[in-house]
Amino acid sequence: MSATASAPAHPVRRGLPPGPRGFGARSFYLLAQRPLETLLAWHARYGDLFTVRLPVFGTGVYVADPQAIRDLHTGDQSDLRAGEANAPLGGVLGDRSVLVLDGAEHLRQRRLLLPPFQGSAVRAFRTVIRDVAEREVGRWRPGERFALRERMRALTFEVIARAVFGVERQERIERLRRALVAVLDAQYAFLLPDRLLRDLGRLSPGGVVRRRLQAADALLYEEIARRRGADDLEERADVLSLLLRARDEDGEPMTDGELRDELMTMLLAGHETTATGLAFAFDLLLHAPATLARLREELASSDGGEAYLDATVTETLRLRPVIDANQRRLTQPRVVAGWELPAGVSVYPAIAIVHRRPDLYPEPEAFRPERFLDGRTESYAWLPFGGGIRRCIGAALAQAEMAEVIRTVATRAELRAQRPATEQVVMRGVTLVPRHGTPVEVAHVR
Ligand code: HEM
Repeated sequence: MSATASAPAHPVRRGLPPGPRGFGARSFYLLAQRPLETLLAWHARYGDLFTVRLPVFGTGVYVADPQAIRDLHTGDQSDLRAGEANAPLGGVLGDRSVLVLDGAEHLRQRRLLLPPFQGSAVRAFRTVIRDVAEREVGRWRPGERFALRERMRALTFEVIARAVFGVERQERIERLRRALVAVLDAQYAFLLPDRLLRDLGRLSPGGVVRRRLQAADALLYEEIARRRGADDLEERADVLSLLLRARDEDGEPMTDGELRDELMTMLLAGHETTATGLAFAFDLLLHAPATLARLREELASSDGGEAYLDATVTETLRLRPVIDANQRRLTQPRVVAGWELPAGVSVYPAIAIVHRRPDLYPEPEAFRPERFLDGRTESYAWLPFGGGIRRCIGAALAQAEMAEVIRTVATRAELRAQRPATEQVVMRGVTLVPRHGTPVEVAHVR
């Protein structure tokens, strides 16, 4: 379908659709503190396309019309730059990361990365995930209280370390975790302009980030070198080993620098996002006792309750998408839902708004896994993983991980929510998270 195929019969309007006024500080504050309510209120007021001006991110147009999103994700996309929009991440991810590249270079990296994340490969990771989840739940004690999101962060890190990096020894995983989480925790660095990120000594923001990066890089290059020399490289199923064996269309392997950048990318893109998805899942389940009871019943049934479990994951990611909108920057004017938008602006397919459209999801506020019991999702109505040639590479892994962890926790542990109602959703960095990280108390563990 061409980029302009969905243009309506009435004349195309040029420029930027109306949206909240002002220089952006207020919009930024509202989006950070009450992202879902704010996006839904703007949608109710301005319609399916509205313009928002934000500090750092610049001018962007949210698009909440599924047809227009479909046009943005299919057909010719050479004028849509996602890598350019992700450029601020380049300092940490490196300039060969699939997230910051565009065009032919992006496609090359993406083709190399995709095979280890496809169905059959992900099935093999389920055992690893179950094992990590069993050990995590095995450490919980009755009466213990914690923010579930923190425990899930440790768990999803371990899954990435084992399934993606292929590291098995616990002390090496712990060493990597400390070094890499130190980089991720310096999130502020991603938003600073380059000149502020200059290394002005040990205590300057630039200095702190550089030193943490150097320490993390040293460990990543060490793992790459160890694996290159491993006797069983040809038989190993982890993503790093598969990438070491991969060849591009010219028969070239990935360089160590490319491997380092992609390992960092998979960690950054896949660790907190999945942990947050899990924290949201339990926030919703623990406040919906009938749904949790049905899930447990299904899990105990003879067919293992796979369909209801998967539907629970799908419904969680609908009602609580971790990313509110994916993004593309226009390199030339483009018609989107009847507006010719100028070059240079960002376009945000508004995942969080589409997921709440009553015409797609009756009673959209209700948490109801039954909606998805037939296992079907419409690509442009359910898009927690974005779409098109930039769709999340780790989508199948993330969904398998959420399903296996929910299965283990729901089967083995009884948790009590520490807050009377589901949590306020807030924006942290570029993701939506539960404000308090889903605090729970362990009632008992089987
Ligand atoms: C619940 C968990 C996750 C969510 C909600 C999520 C969401 C997303 C979204 C919205 C995008 C942007 C897509 C677009 O622009 O159209 C993305 C990209 C990406 N994700 Fe995920 N993700 C998750 C887990 C993972 C995992 C586990 C990995 C890998 C280990 C991963 C790796 C990536 C990569 C490499 C990209 C860039 C793809 C490209 O630019 O071609 N993600 N993800």
